[in-house]
Amino acid sequence: MKQFEHSEVLKRLPKQFFADLVQKVQRLKAEGHDVINLGQGNPDLPTPPSIVKSLQEAAEDPQNHKYSPFSGKKELKEATAEFYKREYQVELDPETEVAILFGAKTGLVEITPSLTNPGDTVLLPDPGYPDYLSGTAMADVRVETMPLLEKNSFLPDYGEIPDDVLSDAKLLFLNYPNNPTSATADKAFFDKTIDLAKEHDLCVVHDFAYGAIGYDGKKPQSYLQSEGAKDVGVEMYTLSKTYNMAGWRVGMAVGNRSVIEAINLIQDHMYVSLFGAIQDASIHALTADQEMVRQLVETYESRRNAFIGKMHDIGWHVEAPTGTFFVWLPVPDGYSSEEFADILLEQAHVATAPGNGFGEYGEGYVRVGLLDSEDRLREAGDRIAKLNLF
Ligand SMILES: Cc1ncc(COP(=O)(O)O)c(C=O)c1O
Repeated sequence: MKQFEHSEVLKRLPKQFFADLVQKVQRLKAEGHDVINLGQGNPDLPTPPSIVKSLQEAAEDPQNHKYSPFSGKKELKEATAEFYKREYQVELDPETEVAILFGAKTGLVEITPSLTNPGDTVLLPDPGYPDYLSGTAMADVRVETMPLLEKNSFLPDYGEIPDDVLSDAKLLFLNYPNNPTSATADKAFFDKTIDLAKEHDLCVVHDFAYGAIGYDGKKPQSYLQSEGAKDVGVEMYTLSKTYNMAGWRVGMAVGNRSVIEAINLIQDHMYVSLFGAIQDASIHALTADQEMVRQLVETYESRRNAFIGKMHDIGWHVEAPTGTFFVWLPVPDGYSSEEFADILLEQAHVATAPGNGFGEYGEGYVRVGLLDSEDRLREAGDRIAKLNLF
């Protein structure tokens, strides 16, 4: 069979770092081992029943069997505006300040080719969600990283970015609550970000995928809650984590009109919008009683407490995360992230994600997802304790 050569764009795409981890886990499972897989970020609990029911009913509506409006249903944009008003006291114009996405990932990837030209500079957090790099590779831009260090509470230190980089940069990506470090950001940080963006003509792209998951009674801060946010940026939201709807692929970009227009334009050329019934069920999710979200956060908080308690018992000193369903664990001296993750996997059958997969500054850490029951998380701790590494 003839082998067709891939385009330069495809050749530039980064290797999927975590594909190796998936393979290793599958091999151990095939050998009959009971692997506790805390390496991935896929929510383990089902979508709340009322949302599933809403999809079932909407699937029967023949209106939904047609092409849906290209930029998404007006009612879903209105529900998004209602959600932002209710949750964050932020006003959005549904028509011009909301774009419907096939999950936040799509928006986070397509925004770079939509707003930059080859050779432009984009600022990315390191460590960070690897998919930002898919968009920067497609757009053929120069990536400058902002180290997220423990001593700075895993926030970028804007004072460390050289002036020439700031003056060349077009986009600035942020993500709080943060994957993988589990750090959260406060209003003062976003206020400072907006000042920086205004001064250097940057567009802020805030990834708010874990917006619903904050602990100890603290609700994570939306970028849009800061004055002037819409002037210089957008926020990407997703139903994947808030409502356990990762497989449904529903997200939204909200904020600056010209950016929303760019996203709608590129999407017009690539897709017809989401299945109408999924949009109807998403409207239900955003506008229904949010007790289901409160319960989910409680579940993650109990898991966090169970896991962190176990880690402290065995002498692994880690900070309790303030948001997300991740724990960012420093590896003991003498091991690289990958070596340590391999030991946990091969000897304790506990899968974790090595931090270097999220960037250079992820080296020295492994990421654990709190995506199994409290009992299994405690068992993971017991298995790690038996290795006597601490
Ligand atoms: C930081 C971050 N942003 C975005 C996403 C993508 O979310 P979605 O399912 O909406 O594409 C994820 C998913 O794991 C994530 O961890």
